[in-house]
Amino acid sequence: MKENKVITIVGTGVIGAGWAARFLAKGYTVKAYDPNSVSREQLKINVRTAFKSLKKIGLNRNASLRNLKVYSKLPSALKDTTFVQENAPENEKIKKNILKQIDNLVDKRVIIASSSSGLLPSKIQSACKFPERVLIGHPFNPVYLLPLVEIVAGKKTTQISVKKLKKLYEHVGMRPLIVQKEIEGYISDRLQEALWREALHIINDGVASTDEVDDAIVYGPGLRWAFMGVCLTFHLAGGETGMKHMLEQFGPALKLPWTKLKAPELTNKLKKAMVSGTKKQAGKFNIKELEKQRDLFLIEIMKTLNKNQKDKFPNWNKKYNTFK
Ligand SMILES: NC(=O)c1ccc[n+]([C@@H]2O[C@H](COP(=O)([O-])OP(=O)(O)OC[C@H]3O[C@@H](n4cnc5c(N)ncnc54)[C@H](O)[C@@H]3O)[C@@H](O)[C@H]2O)c1
Repeated sequence: MKENKVITIVGTGVIGAGWAARFLAKGYTVKAYDPNSVSREQLKINVRTAFKSLKKIGLNRNASLRNLKVYSKLPSALKDTTFVQENAPENEKIKKNILKQIDNLVDKRVIIASSSSGLLPSKIQSACKFPERVLIGHPFNPVYLLPLVEIVAGKKTTQISVKKLKKLYEHVGMRPLIVQKEIEGYISDRLQEALWREALHIINDGVASTDEVDDAIVYGPGLRWAFMGVCLTFHLAGGETGMKHMLEQFGPALKLPWTKLKAPELTNKLKKAMVSGTKKQAGKFNIKELEKQRDLFLIEIMKTLNKNQKDKFPNWNKKYNTFK
């Protein structure tokens, strides 16, 4: 049988483990590096757990947990690699430094993607000798199930690298979104951050509890957002003339001080309200059990979306079906 292609995961926390599981499920050999022995051990557990969910949607015939190799030394993990996905902590200095090391150790044709959630690629690629192949590939948790990945090029990244990365992500069942301009926070996290800031204000101002804030999304907009997103949803809110009427009717409300935009101070009182509120919501379930439930829900939602694809829901393109 043909040898599986080797890819390298650098940093094996929540996101690194998610990438490892996705690539393993698609039949790759994954070499993983983390300086922390606890993270390396946790990786094996997390990948095994992810495989339970992935089995429900089908694994590539070459997929095997035996194809996961874990290393405590970076050069060993990078040997013979064809692609590197970096998942070190979200800190510009750490990212810049680790990308520089990777850049020095792998062939200049190997694409190096960073999972950063919001750092500017131009900054974190700046210490690399071959920055043209360094860019952002920002995924969403759980990486082994959610198809979205944002690709952001830095000033020195070439379009060839962008194209190569897009092709690779598509090959592993993802929906790459190429961010047209380099900005901090990219697209999806900017949207999520705006909602998150308002949620914190609502709790800080005593308007609602954490479970009420969550209900306000889960039983309403969240259900629509699974297949329409915010723009198309509002197009339908405008009746027969769609977005035009929507803007005429609700446009003036945009000037009202409905949103605060600036984040509230994370006081001890607010932190306590968030931590105790979500603990109460979680009830008897620990994080691992909640992750299992989340995966089951996501798989069912994605199956429904895939069944009703493209012609009915234009935002959900079968081409990026995670289950193919
Ligand atoms: N958690 C999320 O929901 C999420 C989503 C998308 C992207 N991201 C991004 O992914 C990256 C990793 O986030 P995470 O949530 O997995 O963090 P994490 O804390 O779970 O994992 C980070 C891992 O990096 C390791 N590490 C520390 N120093 C390192 C170094 N110098 N080189 C390599 N590894 C090192 C740590 O030991 C740890 O295992 C961040 O850039 C983050 O912004 C996170």
